[in-house]
Amino acid sequence: FHHVSADKPLLGKRVMITAGPTREAIDPVRYISNHSSGKMGYALAVAARVLGAQVTIVSGPVALTCPSQIAKIDVESAEDMLKAVMTDIDKQDIFIGCAAVADYRIEQASSDKIKKSAEKMQLALTRNPDILATVSALPQRPFTVGFAAETSNVVDYARDKLKRKKLDMIAANDVSIADQGFNSDSNALQVIWDGGQHALPAMNKQILAHQLMSIIVENMSNK
Ligand code: CTP
Ligand code: CA
Repeated sequence: FHHVSADKPLLGKRVMITAGPTREAIDPVRYISNHSSGKMGYALAVAARVLGAQVTIVSGPVALTCPSQIAKIDVESAEDMLKAVMTDIDKQDIFIGCAAVADYRIEQASSDKIKKSAEKMQLALTRNPDILATVSALPQRPFTVGFAAETSNVVDYARDKLKRKKLDMIAANDVSIADQGFNSDSNALQVIWDGGQHALPAMNKQILAHQLMSIIVENMSNK
């Protein structure tokens, strides 16, 4: 039994957060990935722990150390990330998809290092599973929060993702703005849910994470 206090509203709750990029192997020495640093996801993990939650990060390859009192599952590919998420998702109260999951993987990764030959070569890609949409489609799903990295029409695209992926909430960031989002220490977010919106201006990711967690807690209790 946990006493839910005002400063620890997530006491007794479990939060799972995906963070960082995924790596999609081309051959044993090469991969496709992106510039996600994992900073936002790790900051959210700390913010959730401070509010009393038991937190698990499912992390792609990042250069960050795991914050104390947080469980971390290391993964590489999107398929691995989905597998890791699904093994423990039924115990979670909140799921936050913060990872920059590669939309495509190599159709057939080579088990041998590919040798160069012709001037041009092509890689056949195939769509990865959508981890966030898989979680939100579960019959007994946690409160499900997504991120949206956009370079234009930020709010419109994010609202569309909120609906399409049937999310409880989405946090959208404009990755076209220098020094915000990918690999940066600061970020600005438009937090959107059915019937509401809250703009969080550019600030340090750790402070931003605390503000986003507060909005999540507030919205959960309104449900
Ligand atoms: N996401 C996911 N699994 C994927 C792709 C995305 O879980 N295979 C999650 C991300 O973690 C993020 C949200 O979905 O929380 C939105 O990611 P984003 O790349 O902005 O959206 P997509 O649906 O992939 O659409 P697009 O890249 O075409 O804009
Ligand atoms: Ca994507």
